[in-house]
Amino acid sequence: MERLQKVIANLGYTSRRKAEELIQTGKVKVNGEIVKELGTKVKTSDTIEVENTILDNCKNYEYYLLNKPREVISSVSDEHGRKTVVDLIQTKERIYPVGRLDYDTTGIILLTNDGCLANKLMHPSSNIEKKYIAKVNGLVSGYDIKRLRDGVVIDGKKTSKAKVNLKKYDKKTDKSLVELIIHEGRNHQVKKMFEAINHEVLKLKREKYANLDLTGLKPGEYRKLTNKEVAILYSLVK
Ligand code: URA
Repeated sequence: MERLQKVIANLGYTSRRKAEELIQTGKVKVNGEIVKELGTKVKTSDTIEVENTILDNCKNYEYYLLNKPREVISSVSDEHGRKTVVDLIQTKERIYPVGRLDYDTTGIILLTNDGCLANKLMHPSSNIEKKYIAKVNGLVSGYDIKRLRDGVVIDGKKTSKAKVNLKKYDKKTDKSLVELIIHEGRNHQVKKMFEAINHEVLKLKREKYANLDLTGLKPGEYRKLTNKEVAILYSLVK
């Protein structure tokens, strides 16, 4: 038996303090009955409903943030025996990546066994902000930047407006470093956006995903998300 507010927080719905608020304001039901008393104890077999969402309290959800290195595939298994993002994380749970990064792309990727959150985050309507830094061939001109910002046609469809900035141009090597903030998650989107303006992506890193960044994580390292971080992700896809 666990205290209701702790169970709600541990399931990643929100912080413990916010869970207490939700309980006190009558937004939480246990087995169909509103429960306003803090500290009410619940069992794993109880059905907990918060703001009309039923929480699966039998399951121990896990949420990881990995700094994906190059040459690792973003899937659960690989028929060619290549290393996967799941291989890098030590857990007994059946976790899987939330979306994909290409084999040669590095940076932030989430893994979880919470299918509900994963599906919502991956849904095209989720509008999650992703920040990439791309090293590309040649000088990316002001006109190129404007085209990327306004949207370019890839696979027959224009990309949504993006925030794009040239961070650096190295004259010696004739390479540009470009930062892009996009909300879509189309297949090979960043590479195809540059292809549309005739620049080849040589290196690609995802530096931010929603409220999360890579602070303190070297390539190959990972950490668990905090309850608060999970709650923020939920709030972004509600
Ligand atoms: N866009 C790409 O082209 N590749 C990735 O891995 C991620 C975004």
